[in-house]
Amino acid sequence: MSIKEQSLMNLRLPTGIEKVDRIIEGYQTYQVLLAALELGLFEFLDKEGPSDGNTIARGIGINGMFSRDFLGALLDTGFLSRNGEQYANTKATTDFLLIRSPFFQGDCVRNARENFHWNDLSGYLRREQPATNNFHAASSASFMDALGQRALRGELQFVTEAISNWSGFYRAKSLLDLGGGHGLYAIALCQTHPHLTGTILDRPHVIENTTRYIKDYQMEDRLSAKAGDISNDGFGSGFDIVIISHLLYKFRKSLESVFDKVRACINPGGLLVTNHWFCAPGCVAQNSGVHELAKALQSFGHPLCHVEDFEKLFYKKGFKILSTSVVPTTFGSSRLYLAVKESEQPKCSSQSFGCCC
Ligand SMILES: C[S@@+](CC[C@H](N)C(=O)[O-])C[C@H]1O[C@@H](n2cnc3c(N)ncnc32)[C@H](O)[C@@H]1O
Repeated sequence: MSIKEQSLMNLRLPTGIEKVDRIIEGYQTYQVLLAALELGLFEFLDKEGPSDGNTIARGIGINGMFSRDFLGALLDTGFLSRNGEQYANTKATTDFLLIRSPFFQGDCVRNARENFHWNDLSGYLRREQPATNNFHAASSASFMDALGQRALRGELQFVTEAISNWSGFYRAKSLLDLGGGHGLYAIALCQTHPHLTGTILDRPHVIENTTRYIKDYQMEDRLSAKAGDISNDGFGSGFDIVIISHLLYKFRKSLESVFDKVRACINPGGLLVTNHWFCAPGCVAQNSGVHELAKALQSFGHPLCHVEDFEKLFYKKGFKILSTSVVPTTFGSSRLYLAVKESEQPKCSSQSFGCCC
């Protein structure tokens, strides 16, 4: 019997409809938070202190008829509290949603909508190749800001502290951050080591944003942003530290040539730092489905695979691994390698060393 022939009056709703509603409510709650950020609600309360609904409505320019329910929806998120008629920011708001906080996550929130992975997910899932220059400087700015804000949740602190503990760190003169984007890793290291200078190499449409970060942190005399493409361009020479963080996924089929170029640009005894997600043994999922999908989109389908082959590559290209660490990141753990360039590159023999060639 077709749907049209059934008696509408006798239809009985099956159980489970709340699964649908939960998803829709999640989306609506997301829009409430986005609107609060766009309207400057949290900044208003930070400046004015606890305020009643009418004052807030006037202050942020919304129709007073919506204020009670809009603010009520925000109470449910835990980003507002209420005492009598007075609404105020909560600690979580002060920590994560005020621009003045070093842990501001506003761009992460915004980017969940603007990000080209998510705003056309069905289109992205059909892609056979990673995006090349498919996003311009404006969307790249929001993506970069979101990446930087995620890194500052602890990953950047972990990685840069590990680098600063390397015995040669304070003798190093120059660093190169390949695919450095926001440049925050280079900035953090230059803050720690007052004589370090560096280059952040990224694709041309990203460089405008990299330059903005360098300026914001007043590092113009120490850091420069260079436009390039790691698949076609050389990396320069004479670097004491080279950082590659979350860049190699797209190059998983040409890792050897990236390592060759890194070897050519780094001084003997210099430090190569890599930080990436790897498949768990058996390539099993480690997090929730949506988390794993977010990681897969960011690493174009798959983290690096396999740890053992990656480690052999260091050896084969003349780097000695000093340490391996597990780094907590937003999308599960990544692996950090610190390796030094040895003066000799071994004559590779796949029989004796099991090279991944
Ligand atoms: C996921 S982001 C990582 C940013 C930063 N390294 C971090 O860990 O937060 C990858 C960066 O690599 C850059 N990138 C991608 N392909 C590149 C290429 N072929 N040449 C240079 N940079 C590239 C992107 O523009 C982006 O800034």
